[in-house]
Amino acid sequence: MKKRPVVVVTRRLPDVIETRLRELFDTRLNLEDKPLSGAELAEAVKTADVLVPTITDEIDASVIAEAGPNLKLIANFGNGVDNIDVPAALARGITVTNTPGVLTEDTADMTMALILAVARRIPEGARVIPEGEWAGWAPTWMLGRRITGKRLGIVGMGRIGQALARRAKAFGLSIHYHNRRHVPPKIEAELEATYWESLDQMLARMDIVSVNCPHTPATYHLLSARRLKLMRPDAILVNTARGEIIDETALTRLIEAGAIGGAGLDVFEQEPAVNPRLVKLAKQGKVVLLPHMGSATHEGRIAMGEKVIVNIKAFIDGHKPPDRVLPSML
Ligand code: 8YV
Repeated sequence: MKKRPVVVVTRRLPDVIETRLRELFDTRLNLEDKPLSGAELAEAVKTADVLVPTITDEIDASVIAEAGPNLKLIANFGNGVDNIDVPAALARGITVTNTPGVLTEDTADMTMALILAVARRIPEGARVIPEGEWAGWAPTWMLGRRITGKRLGIVGMGRIGQALARRAKAFGLSIHYHNRRHVPPKIEAELEATYWESLDQMLARMDIVSVNCPHTPATYHLLSARRLKLMRPDAILVNTARGEIIDETALTRLIEAGAIGGAGLDVFEQEPAVNPRLVKLAKQGKVVLLPHMGSATHEGRIAMGEKVIVNIKAFIDGHKPPDRVLPSML
């Protein structure tokens, strides 16, 4: 019998996905679900035909350099591929795939939820009753900010940015966006979206800013200290993309100083570590912090797993996998 390809999966995946992976391939699972150490990762790339990593695996050039001759595919369980040195992989003839499209709606939902959570002080309010601190309704207590009629600036108008815009429009926000290029006129018209070529100018005029672009070398600290200072003192910044796109230290300082109104963050620069000053701001109700939950639905994670399987299967069968990451996408 033909030898089945060795597929090394670095973290636990939904049961149905693990079961199917085992049916199809010689799959090595991580039943303990502990992130792999550097040595374990090096061992994995030495033995695998296919590696299935997640955001918690740093597949940098040194890991790629350890790859054995059999490693021909890295099928990332995730849309963002900033955990992988893709040019290094491609240079070694290793194909890289991701899982686009299936986490768009979930991530857009979470972005909208964060906008509401910060503006309407939902986590602060949600703590009051369980902590036995509700003295009763009062006209001037727990007031947040209305979102209807406000301006939302979306940084990165790809699939998730557009899905957020559709939701935000229904909430009565006006849609503004900065992107490398205009979205097609039909979509721009449907969303009644205003394109800003200048990110600086857009930032200075928005009530709410949402980061929805991928993290690439070009977007690292795109929201730099200089740019963050352009934001209005009552503005809210939301990030469900990648922590590295915002200069987190500068953001923390500006919120502490009252120069930015608040933030809703699902992603951080040094995950899972979070700046203790941000944690303090969360306790004061000035920011809402979520532990990278944007795509965390049962349906979404199964759909991501399905994509991983389809990509591996197509590749093993000698076809081009549907979700190849190409240099032009980086
Ligand atoms: C995933 C994500 O949970 O897909 C992405 O880019 O950020 C997350 O929603 C994570 O990447 C899984 O590896």
